[in-house]
Amino acid sequence: MQEVIKKVLINEEQLDKRIKEVAKEISNDYKDKTPVMLCLLKGSVSYFTRLCENMDIKLVYDFMKASSYHGTESTGEVKVTVSPSMDLKDKHVIVVEDIIDTGLTLSNVMKILQSYEPASIEITTLLDKPARRLTDGINPKYVGFVIPDEFVLGFGLDWDEEYRNLPYVGVLKDEYYK
Ligand code: IMP
Repeated sequence: MQEVIKKVLINEEQLDKRIKEVAKEISNDYKDKTPVMLCLLKGSVSYFTRLCENMDIKLVYDFMKASSYHGTESTGEVKVTVSPSMDLKDKHVIVVEDIIDTGLTLSNVMKILQSYEPASIEITTLLDKPARRLTDGINPKYVGFVIPDEFVLGFGLDWDEEYRNLPYVGVLKDEYYK
């Protein structure tokens, strides 16, 4: 399975340590708020699970799927195929994202979420690739790792739906990166 990986960018130990730090920070900020942890499917599943397990406050889970990503280039086009199951009005929502690349997907998702009139809404992303940003409206409050402009996979992130189950974040070999 590792034949498409150029190098390990973030290993299991680094992931574990940093996610625990972010979980602690969010827990401190959301004491007594019972946030809705909103997992953006499918790439955020690994981060979402590890993050929530390490938060020591009351919280609830919800899920949303709004993506369109083919190969290694984002189309920016968003289609919601799974909507949140809860009424988010007056709730404190924390959007849990795997990676922010151009930011176009999340910017569309945020517009949809704002229309539900939550009490507050913040973003946490495991990975941030600021060099690729095409919108200035996306400011994640809790960032796991800022990474360079390379296509990464593993720990939830896919390459054409595969490799999500790698326990680390790896860089795709150049020959596959368009
Ligand atoms: P954006 O709209 O360009 O910010 O792309 C957001 C989505 O594209 C993420 O939620 C990922 O699913 C996917 N994506 C962006 N960069 C990568 C990458 O390096 N590896 C795997 N998926 C990525």
